[in-house]
Amino acid sequence: MNLHFTEEQEMMRKMVREFAESEIAPFVEQMEKGEFPRPILSKMAELGLMGITIPEEYGGAGMDFVSYIIAIHEISKVSATVGVILSVHTSVGTNPILYFGTEEQKRKYVPKLASGEYLGAFCLTEPSAGSDAKSLKTKAVRQGDYYILNGSKVFITNGGEADTYIVFARTNPDETGSRGISAFIVEKDTPGFIIGKDEKKMGLHGSRTVQISFEDAKVPAENLLGEEGQGFKIAMANLDVGRIGIAAQSLGIAEAALEHATAYAKERIQFGKPIAEQQGVGFKLADMATATEAAKLLVYRAAFLRANGIPCGKEASMAKLFASRAAMENAIEAVQIFGGNGYTEDYPVERLFRDAKICEIYEGTSEIQRLVISKQL
Ligand code: CAA
Repeated sequence: MNLHFTEEQEMMRKMVREFAESEIAPFVEQMEKGEFPRPILSKMAELGLMGITIPEEYGGAGMDFVSYIIAIHEISKVSATVGVILSVHTSVGTNPILYFGTEEQKRKYVPKLASGEYLGAFCLTEPSAGSDAKSLKTKAVRQGDYYILNGSKVFITNGGEADTYIVFARTNPDETGSRGISAFIVEKDTPGFIIGKDEKKMGLHGSRTVQISFEDAKVPAENLLGEEGQGFKIAMANLDVGRIGIAAQSLGIAEAALEHATAYAKERIQFGKPIAEQQGVGFKLADMATATEAAKLLVYRAAFLRANGIPCGKEASMAKLFASRAAMENAIEAVQIFGGNGYTEDYPVERLFRDAKICEIYEGTSEIQRLVISKQL
């Protein structure tokens, strides 16, 4: 593994960093008030960021997977909200069509997703099927040229804002396990597709997370993704990749917490010298920096494997498990270093603290990552 980025990847990092600082940072306050960052997504689309890894023939930028991870990492340092919107749109909102779709499906949807005209979402989780994803109950019954979907989904990132949804439903009621599940591309204006409760979350205030119900939703049979019964494998295969995106988002939060805490500790004088020079604070910063570097290596190693077509489900889970813990621990310590200031909305570490927690939960909890890793040992 080469520990240096290519010239192209370095250019990508510089471009995204500048964009995040000049365009995303001024919008953070509005996102914190709950505004979905539409204007930011439009600008990201102009820069080709909504289809970084999509091949040029399908309207994307045709860049490698490492460049995509660089983008999520740099964006999340400034806004984990924008980071997750991009990650979900790309990895589980668009890639399933690219990897499992027919040529017709790819031509119909991927260019619109890659250009940012469409936003993507992923509907796997249900009220009684979270970690145990294969116990999902949403049903899809074939009737002529349509599948009729009934059921409900929860915690759908980008829900209500997205144009296309990758939906998992049971097509074979006799098969209770993973083999009875199929995947569908569902468009937002499908009759019977209903956007429900908009969750009020601890963090990621500018991202939308909704409940969705299907009430005799009529989905054209041609929107079946892959074959009947292949849905669970489609979900799992895309989550393998998606988890590297969430790991990169976590890395961005961990690094931001470290940078803010270091800058503050150098300026804040107590007992006659900067608190960074007090061993209790200096050691905290040392541990935060070490965790951040370790997370970076795991995240970029998983990305490198993925970019080179090497199976990396275990490495993706390790990266997500470790980086999300680093994000949470660094955010906790950053608030501690900021003291009373850290507990106020006047300083960014309070937001990082709230945003970090979800990284240990979505796209598979830390416990599920340990399950995936241990199964492969
Ligand atoms: N790739 C391809 N196929 C896979 C796979 C993978 N990574 N993992 C499992 N499979 C296949 C297996 O080979 C098996 O196939 P066969 O039946 O043909 O043998 C089938 O899937 C079932 O596998 P398991 O028996 O191992 O399934 P399991 O139920 O024991 O465990 C799990 C699977 C890892 C626990 C899985 O359920 C899981 O990942 N759960 C967490 C769900 C999750 O991550 N949800 C996130 C929601 S999306 C989200 O959060 C997005 C967002 O908004 C940010």
